[in-house]
Amino acid sequence: IGGAVALGGGGLGAYYAAAKRDTAGKIAFDRALPIPALAEAGSGAAGARVFTLGIRPGETRFKDGPPTRTWGVNGTYLGPTIRARRGERVELTVRNGLDQETSLHWHGMHLPAAVDGGPHQPVPAGGVWRPRWTIDQPAATLWYHPHVHGATADHTYRGVTGLFIVDDENADALNLPSEYGVDDVPMIVQDRAFDGDNQFEQRVPLGGSLGVIGDEILVNGTIGPYFDVTTRLVRLRLLNGSNARLYNFGFSDDRSFSLIATDGGLLAEPWETTRLHLSPGERAEVVVAFRPGERVELRSYPSDHGGSLGRLDGFDDRLDICRFRAAGTLADDTELPAVLAALPDLAGEAVAEERSFVLASDRINGRPMAMDRIDFGVRGGTVEVWEVTNDNGYPHNFHVHDVRFQVLSVDDEPPGPHLRGRKDTVLLPPGRRYRLAMRFGDHTDPNVPYMYHCHLLRHEDEGMMGQFVVLGEGEQVGVVPKAHHHP
Ligand code: C2O
Ligand code: CU
Repeated sequence: IGGAVALGGGGLGAYYAAAKRDTAGKIAFDRALPIPALAEAGSGAAGARVFTLGIRPGETRFKDGPPTRTWGVNGTYLGPTIRARRGERVELTVRNGLDQETSLHWHGMHLPAAVDGGPHQPVPAGGVWRPRWTIDQPAATLWYHPHVHGATADHTYRGVTGLFIVDDENADALNLPSEYGVDDVPMIVQDRAFDGDNQFEQRVPLGGSLGVIGDEILVNGTIGPYFDVTTRLVRLRLLNGSNARLYNFGFSDDRSFSLIATDGGLLAEPWETTRLHLSPGERAEVVVAFRPGERVELRSYPSDHGGSLGRLDGFDDRLDICRFRAAGTLADDTELPAVLAALPDLAGEAVAEERSFVLASDRINGRPMAMDRIDFGVRGGTVEVWEVTNDNGYPHNFHVHDVRFQVLSVDDEPPGPHLRGRKDTVLLPPGRRYRLAMRFGDHTDPNVPYMYHCHLLRHEDEGMMGQFVVLGEGEQVGVVPKAHHHP
């Protein structure tokens, strides 16, 4: 089946081996990295920023030969970058130009459940949806993708994905690289498998697999791109937009770079590293320093976590992702500050509730997702600690809607520096146990749930997902409206 791979009786090793394609040093890098357009913002009542997004089918040329049938937002593949500031009101018009129901979820956004864009807010074929809310969270790189129950993997794979950048005064005051597409570069990293007719290949056998792992790596919809560097410091906003593939990012000369932000926004201080893992749905902002005239590739390396991430070492190939070509002289007017943000520490807070979640076999705590079952309610404004365990031989990850969490511990040890910022999605290597602290917000609704799930999209579709509601003072867990009970 082309580049798509299947987990047969051979276990994970065979699974990864089928996707193996060591591309280090073999990619031509002859196409410029396209930068997703910034979505045009109109102005609405009381200064609201108004965006129109049209989801539609199209054809996209990724390689020689016939074009690939794709879906996109305001285009044929991927979508524009939406940008808004903390405190601003946004009003979106989402038109579904497909011949089937879909949705758009604002991944990482703190917002009322009724506009979350998850399985309970489907947009019918030909329909229009108008979510609106006020941005109320720190500067961060968020993203959007479909989230209809049972079809998230398919719809996202076809190309419906874009970034949603939140700005705020703290980030603005830092003099970080921030010229969009010049020294502040969005990079949506995805793997895709193509069949003999250049069509996306998604077939995987039922049961137990991670989902499709492709052998071509795309950045912003382009295989093997180059980016022309014109400044000494460049900020990369990395999104792992793959359905299942994990990346261990690094550079071909092993240079170090600085992690400055994770899913939920800036870290307290930069962390210098040579490698960075991102699982599907996770984002990272890194700052890289370049020397005039040099060329270097962003790569994914085999896992360097040794035995502790043993199973992930199945990714034993080195994948070249993007070449950076530095100009002969580089502008140098930004800096990397020593302090980035003040992060409140939830470790000392009173904990209203502790819950535990065990992920195994497409289930959380043994139960598959059900549209009409609210798994629990949390009290708005309170802090909870969720203990999340991967009880499988497979990697999973864990994503919670509406909130950003603090990783308190990994197997009772303090989290590494890359996990000290605010997160909304975290990689769960096999056998690991994470304790996550989160404060729930003020958007309460006893009847409309938010989701928590594995962001390996096949697992999510097959039921590794649950639902919670945020309750106001004195409210009880309600009932999901009948109209939402579709499969
Ligand atoms: Cu990015 Cu519930 O998803
Ligand atoms: Cu999973």
